[in-house]
This record gives sequence, structure tokens and C-alpha cells, in this order.
Amino acid sequence: MKPRSAQIAGWGTYVPERVLTNADLERMVDTSDEWITTRSGIRERRIAGPDESTSTMGIRAAEKALCRAGLKGSDIDLVISASATPDYMFPATGCLIQDAIGAKCGAFDLEAGCSSFVYGLVVGSQMIAAGGYENVLLVGAETLSRFMDYTDRSTCVLFGDGAGAVVLRACDDAYGVQAFELGADGAGCELIILPAGGSARPATEETVRAGDHYVHMAGNQVFKFATMTLGSCAERVASKAGWKLDEIDVFIPHQANLRIIEAAQKRLEMPMDKIFVNVDRYGNTSSASVPLAMVEAIDAGLIRKDQNIVMVAFGVGLTWAGVAMRWGVDV
Ligand SMILES: CC(C)(COP(=O)(O)OP(=O)(O)OC[C@H]1O[C@@H](n2cnc3c(N)ncnc32)[C@H](O)[C@@H]1OP(=O)(O)O)[C@@H](O)C(=O)NCCC(=O)NCCS
Repeated sequence: MKPRSAQIAGWGTYVPERVLTNADLERMVDTSDEWITTRSGIRERRIAGPDESTSTMGIRAAEKALCRAGLKGSDIDLVISASATPDYMFPATGCLIQDAIGAKCGAFDLEAGCSSFVYGLVVGSQMIAAGGYENVLLVGAETLSRFMDYTDRSTCVLFGDGAGAVVLRACDDAYGVQAFELGADGAGCELIILPAGGSARPATEETVRAGDHYVHMAGNQVFKFATMTLGSCAERVASKAGWKLDEIDVFIPHQANLRIIEAAQKRLEMPMDKIFVNVDRYGNTSSASVPLAMVEAIDAGLIRKDQNIVMVAFGVGLTWAGVAMRWGVDV
């Protein structure tokens, strides 16, 4: 078989209508627009409506991605749902998405914290490169607002909801994924954790009273890990792809905090206009963040055929993941 790769052939996003601004948060917790903006770069985030969830938002994004790729659900060979906030512990959100789009294929959930979408890019593209599949649907969707304690100012100002989806399609190996890295350091597992509700600590009245069904985070330690990881992972995947740093045309970083992105920008000595940023409008949407940024970069005319694109995510686990991709389709 001729060597082949996988490229992004369709894309779509969905964000809930409700906007939660820093001014709204000022009325909910002891915080200020000034603190949130200077410490994180975030101005507003989206919050899912009562009838929305990770699967419903993921389905909306998936339908747009299928349409852009010119495919029907029945053309999809595999569905991967990348999320840290699935609808249920089980069944897999991937199965809910598979059913809703009318796909007749395998489906599963992939959980690598905020790195889940980029992990999914690697898993899906490698299954295509190995010859197993032609078209893989990858959905990165999160409903983080359901796991936020809106009395805890150290977490609730940072996160938001949303979804992005891509269709990965087989292509000539000159295009698509050229190099990747998957990383994890489980020693940092307690730095961002949802302590109760799993098999280690099932939900009880006591865990709910203690707020252990909400996200707990050691923000400062995560910040140090993130600033070390984002730029260095981008360097390594570019180097594995055989690119010099100035040959990266567009860098799509995980949108967690503007200061983390700026630290990577300095390390990479990359002009800011090559780095796409929308954390100001969505906050940290975990697995949805890279596809939300990538699709907005496409819509802004930043991503074009024959360009070298690097995407890097990091987060819960701790995990990180990077992909170097040569863009192969007209936009
Ligand atoms: C959370 C984060 C924005 C905090 O910024 P920071 O500069 O590290 O701030 P610190 O944690 O040192 O806190 C400084 C002070 O601000 C206070 N503070 C925290 N949240 C606040 C808020 N929303 N409003 C006002 N003050 C706040 C703290 O209580 C602390 O007060 P103290 O000095 O009196 O104890 C930053 O650490 C961060 O972005 N970390 C990474 C988080 C992340 O990306 N997680 C997901 C990874 S995918």
C-alpha cells in the first residue's frame, strides 16, 4: 500500500448562546474584570442551556463538519468523542453522536483531559494511515459549566462550554499529519481533579456537601507545567516534521490562558500574528478549545492549503499532545 496520511477534510463548531461575562461573574463571586483579564486574558465564556450537553453540542458541530466534507453520517468509518465531560460515565458519548448522525460504525470516548482532541487527532489519523479506515469523525466537546463550583473564584472564571468537530480523511502522505507527540505525567494527577463520582469515591451526600463533584485545581502549579510544555512540545513536533520554527505558518495552542500562550510565543520567537487566540471570547473549553480556535483561524483566512500548522494542547492528567500537519485542502 502507498504510504498515506490523514488530513482534516471537514470542520464545524457549536457554542451555546448564553454568554457569561466578567461583569456577570463580578456579581457572583469576589472577583473583578481587571483580575480576570490581566491574569488570564478571558473576557467572556459560553454556558450550555438546560437542554444542552456534551453530546448535543458535539452533534451540532459534527453535522457541520460532515456537511463541509461533503459526507453523510453513513460514510463515517469511526466516531471518536474526545471529552473530559461526557454525558454519562457510560454509555460513551461517542455512541450517542454515532446514533444521531446516522453512522453505522464503531464509536468510543477518548479522555485525556484538555489534550483529548489532539490525542484524538493522533489516534484517528494513525488508524487511517495504517489503512484501517477512510473517514473518521472526531468531536471535541465539553460542558465544563456542569462541573464548576460557581462560588469558587479560582476556577469558575476560567472555563466555558462549546464543541468542535473534524472529519479526518485519508490523503497522500505529503499532506496531513506529518509528526506528533503524546505525553503524560500521572504524578500530577491531583493538580486538576474532579475528586468524587467515579469508582474511587462514588457520589454520596457527603461528597456532594463537600463540593467534590466539582473541579478542584492547583492553578499555580498547573500554570508552571503549562508554560513549560506548550512551547517545548511545539518545538519537538515541528522538529520531528523536519520544519524549522520559522517554517510554522500557523500555531493553534490550547486556549487556557493568554499568559501561557504569550510565554510560548516568546520561547518560539514567533510573531503573534501566526498564533491564533480566542481565549478572550470562550475561556478554557478544554477539548473544544483547539478545534474552536482552528475553525475560527480558517474562517479568518489564516489557514490555507500547503501551510504548516502546529496544534498543541495540555491539561488534566497531566497530559499534553502536539501535531504538525501540512494543510491539504482548499478552504
Ligand atoms: C488560575 C490562574 C489564572 C491564577 O493566576 P496566578 O497569577 O497564578 O494567581 P495565583 O494563583 O497566584 O493567585 C493570586 C491571588 O489571586 C486570588 N484569586 C484567585 N482567583 C481569583 C479571582 N477569580 N479573582 C480575584 N482574585 C483571585 C488568589 O486567591 C490569590 O490571592 P492571595 O495572593 O491573596 O492568596 C493561573 O494560575 C492559571 O491560569 N493556571 C493554569 C490554569 C489552567 O490553565 N488550567 C487548565 C489547564 S488545561
